[in-house]
Amino acid sequence: MRILFVTHSFNSLAQRLYCELTARDHCVSIEFDISDSVTEEAVALFKPDLVIAPFLKRAIPESVWSRLPCFVVHPGIPGDRGPSALDWAIQRGLREWGVTVLQAEREMDAGPVWASSVFPVGAVRKASLYRNQVTEAAVLAVVQAVTRFAAGDFVPQRVPGTAHALMKQADRAIDWDADDTNSVLARLNAADGFPGVADTLFGQACHLFDAWPEASLKGAPGALVARRETAICRATVDGAVWIGHVKRPGGIKLPATMAFPEALALPEQALDDFWKAPLATWQDIAYEEAGGVGFLGFEFYNGAMSTGQCRRLKEAFLWASRRPTKVIVLRGGSDFWSNGIHLNTIEAADSPADESWGNINAIDDLAEAILCCDTQLTVAALAGNAGAGGCFLARAADLVWARDGVMLNPHYKNMGNLFGSEFWTYLLPPRVGEKGAQAIMRHRLPMTAQESVQLGFYDACLPGPGFAVDVTRRAAELAAAADIDERLAAKRSKRQADEVVKPLAAYRAEELKEMRRNFYGFDPSYHVARYHFVSRSPHSWTPRHLARHRDIDWKIPE
Ligand code: COA
Repeated sequence: MRILFVTHSFNSLAQRLYCELTARDHCVSIEFDISDSVTEEAVALFKPDLVIAPFLKRAIPESVWSRLPCFVVHPGIPGDRGPSALDWAIQRGLREWGVTVLQAEREMDAGPVWASSVFPVGAVRKASLYRNQVTEAAVLAVVQAVTRFAAGDFVPQRVPGTAHALMKQADRAIDWDADDTNSVLARLNAADGFPGVADTLFGQACHLFDAWPEASLKGAPGALVARRETAICRATVDGAVWIGHVKRPGGIKLPATMAFPEALALPEQALDDFWKAPLATWQDIAYEEAGGVGFLGFEFYNGAMSTGQCRRLKEAFLWASRRPTKVIVLRGGSDFWSNGIHLNTIEAADSPADESWGNINAIDDLAEAILCCDTQLTVAALAGNAGAGGCFLARAADLVWARDGVMLNPHYKNMGNLFGSEFWTYLLPPRVGEKGAQAIMRHRLPMTAQESVQLGFYDACLPGPGFAVDVTRRAAELAAAADIDERLAAKRSKRQADEVVKPLAAYRAEELKEMRRNFYGFDPSYHVARYHFVSRSPHSWTPRHLARHRDIDWKIPE
């Protein structure tokens, strides 16, 4: 079938559905929801059999849904209608929630239901729920709905329901003198990603994001009691929570101490080392050890890695490599493994060009440390998505194992034609060939974990459920294998041989020469793209590589 996606953006859910439907031989093209007339034009050009709306903020125009079946992916159970569906589910502490694929009609979310899928909900952030459970449920429901539609004999049923309202800041407000820790966390989690909880810090208005529980610290309710790295700790009536990120009016989302430098005066509650703290607290880099394997987790918000984070992670990695282990597993975070350099901290710097330069060098230093580790086999275990430099940072490890379901974007050009670094020119071609590397970089399309293994880019795609357990078992087997010392010796020889052919420093210098042009050259594309990305500017057109119906030589397949 020809399927047109009408979507607010090509977010991770839309990317995943695109890959799943394309893999099932459907011809999918994408149009961003810019205006009714643009959607109408896309329909006229593409002549789809079906329209799917994976992520919409407005209604599909009647001129389209009255002529063509349009499936809306609603992040709620059948009968749930209206905006803020996930926000209400999390804030109300519901144990189970779901995704419904329904046909668009005049009344929002009230059309007949083609498929649905449910999932359990724990104490989780909205953005995380969306990227994990909602995405998996949406894949099941959309594939089922499309199959039913193609079969032609399914009669979708209407499900009675009532619409809830848009969740307003008044519904989200935290009463620091009355709300306990769990209730504060539920409110912050329900608003995470967007829009955050409106509050004040140091007497100034802001929105709070990125909440972490704290098990030991206490203080007068609402008081700021500590800071650690870039996070701040605020007391509740029965404990405290950490706030990792803050957005000030008119500003962008930033690490808390960067948004409020006055927070640097708070008493510092540093952790002694990288070992995972025994009790809940804010710890973005955490190390554990079991069965001859070191596990290094880095829970960086949105997978963005600032200069400081790259340096701290490199220090942690070097520390881990001095431990008496045979294998180091780089776990990344639960939602993202890495999305490369931190575009928000770059944007907020006095000189974004200088900060870009500092950040890319810091991430290259980290990649180099991983590449040159000759004391352990290294494994990048991707439980979460990875994008741009993050995909190549993972490839710096000896083995890359990705969870089935993660989305990868191993290319840079979407960010204002960035050339990219992280030794991709050394790491990618041997895996996929020169032509394959060029195609990946040029096409700028997302890739599933399965595709990455088929292409030879990554090494294994492991089933989603039980991924962490599977990784632990496989890593322990690697560490205990009879030939581990030979493997380590072979790794050292390979690195030395590669170094003779062309030193890592040469790859780095060539990549950074291009990056210098991106950061300091006459073409401002990267700075413009970054500004729009961090400001979350609405799209004003659909990139040509997504809207295939706008190709000059687009023809409806026979
Ligand atoms: N720096 C700072 N923030 C980043 C980031 C980065 N490198 N990559 C992602 N984010 C943030 C987004 O701003 C967004 O923030 P929000 O909390 O305000 O929503 C959040 O992470 C999720 O990103 P989003 O684009 O909505 O997620 P996605 O899963 O739909 O898309 C990517 C994933 C990787 C395709 C997309 O985030 C992207 O292109 N990131 C930039 C990658 C890049 O160019 N890095 C620099 C070169 S190494």
